[in-house]
Amino acid sequence: MTQLNPRFITFEGPDGAGKTTQIRKIALYLQEKGIPLRMTREPGGSVGAEEIRSLLVLGDKGRWDAVTETLLFMAARRDHLTKTIWPSLRRGEWVLSDRFFDSTLAYQGFGRGENKELSLNDLNALYRLVAGDFKPDLTIILDLPAEEGLKRAKLRADKAERFESMPLSFHENLRQGFLKIAESEPLRCVVVNSARPEDEIFEDIKKVLKERLNV
Ligand code: TYD
Repeated sequence: MTQLNPRFITFEGPDGAGKTTQIRKIALYLQEKGIPLRMTREPGGSVGAEEIRSLLVLGDKGRWDAVTETLLFMAARRDHLTKTIWPSLRRGEWVLSDRFFDSTLAYQGFGRGENKELSLNDLNALYRLVAGDFKPDLTIILDLPAEEGLKRAKLRADKAERFESMPLSFHENLRQGFLKIAESEPLRCVVVNSARPEDEIFEDIKKVLKERLNV
């Protein structure tokens, strides 16, 4: 098989959209084609970033204010990039990440609606600091009506408490945020309707990989 350029592919969307399942399926699909790859996630994906993840997901929900929380996500991302993502790509491995910077734009930016301390410009400036011009080659955005995502997330014991406390408007802003990101960067992003059976979603993602990355 001809050697392909290693690609960085991110999967985004609300909690409950089925990202983890789809990443696993896509990873197997690419591995069967002989493509070396690394599956990873945010927040986390490197030793240091997993430590920062614990600070973000454990403990009292109101523990960090919005700015501190954002800086923790960005610090974790920098470590993830320098310790995992960039070295893997340099070794020729494809990298599939469960969430990346679009989650910060959506959750810390759009999700908060009008009451936000951080503008999208601030978030983009922080991104440039941690990642420079580096961007994913492809971003799959799994889209789901806000109520459906909320319902699915509540079925997971680890999610229930965190999400019940967020108003539905947050989840709606989040969805619209992801859709706006996709609209503003159509060459990088593809929206996939994830309110459907897993196999149909998987078929669509495979089509996207063929069209966009020729695999
Ligand atoms: P996780 O358990 O990994 O959620 P999921 O399985 O849905 O990906 O928890 C990560 C949570 O952190 C998730 O609710 C999304 C949120 N998040 C942000 O708010 N900002 C970010 O930059 C990232 C990467 C995640």
